[in-house]
Amino acid sequence: MRRTFVCGNWKMHKTAKEALLLVKQLLIGIDATWYDKVEVAVAPPFVYLFPLSRLLAGTPIGLSAQDVFWEGEGAFTGEVSPVMLKDLECRYCIVGHSERRIYFGEKDKDVNKKVRALISQGITPIVCVGERLEEREAGKVKEVVEGQIKGALDGVEIASPSDIVIAYEPVWAIGTGKVATPEDAQEVHAFIRELLKSMWGKLADEIRILYGGSVKPDNVASLVAQPDIDGALVGGASLKAESFVEIVKNAGGF
Ligand code: 13P
Repeated sequence: MRRTFVCGNWKMHKTAKEALLLVKQLLIGIDATWYDKVEVAVAPPFVYLFPLSRLLAGTPIGLSAQDVFWEGEGAFTGEVSPVMLKDLECRYCIVGHSERRIYFGEKDKDVNKKVRALISQGITPIVCVGERLEEREAGKVKEVVEGQIKGALDGVEIASPSDIVIAYEPVWAIGTGKVATPEDAQEVHAFIRELLKSMWGKLADEIRILYGGSVKPDNVASLVAQPDIDGALVGGASLKAESFVEIVKNAGGF
């Protein structure tokens, strides 16, 4: 059984004070019984990982980074390594987000190096894939997603299905309020699972594939009701405790 997973990607938002407050509100707002059905994590900006790792220690909420560099240490000004993330008890790290691909020129081969480096440290990468609007309109969704999945995971070995999470985030749905229909998203998720099966066989049945792009309290239930949608990567609606708590609740069907 794949346990539903909801992760809040805060992107470049919040002051330190606001970050601590939000997590405190989540710890109070999320009912302890919901965690049986829903795993929860937050992905704050790098600078808040340290204080939040202390606040979240021993709690059910996991910590994720939003990016990483693939080297362990060295003269790489401005970068953060998987070893550092491990030291702060990050369970997850988002890689290949479309904003990194679009604004920072990140390529599938870079994502591949990050995935390998994270797995070697025991951190689970949340690998983001998804087509742009013009690619969808040109009927190239599967072609684009296949290229991203194969590029990001080329030669990657996993020992357990929990070693990796995939997030399908159609670029046209991110921050636009235009959510993919559950059926359209399901079609792509099922396709991704087939690709994972061709790489890792039966392990793929237990790998979680999240949907991301304008997930809100009122649409999350119909998305996770689909057979291959195993949770959500939430941007805007993860920035307020009220809406994120509601998303976790509705994702679990409570
Ligand atoms: P929104 O939920 O704001 O559309 O962002 C989705 C996203 O990019 C999560 O990584």
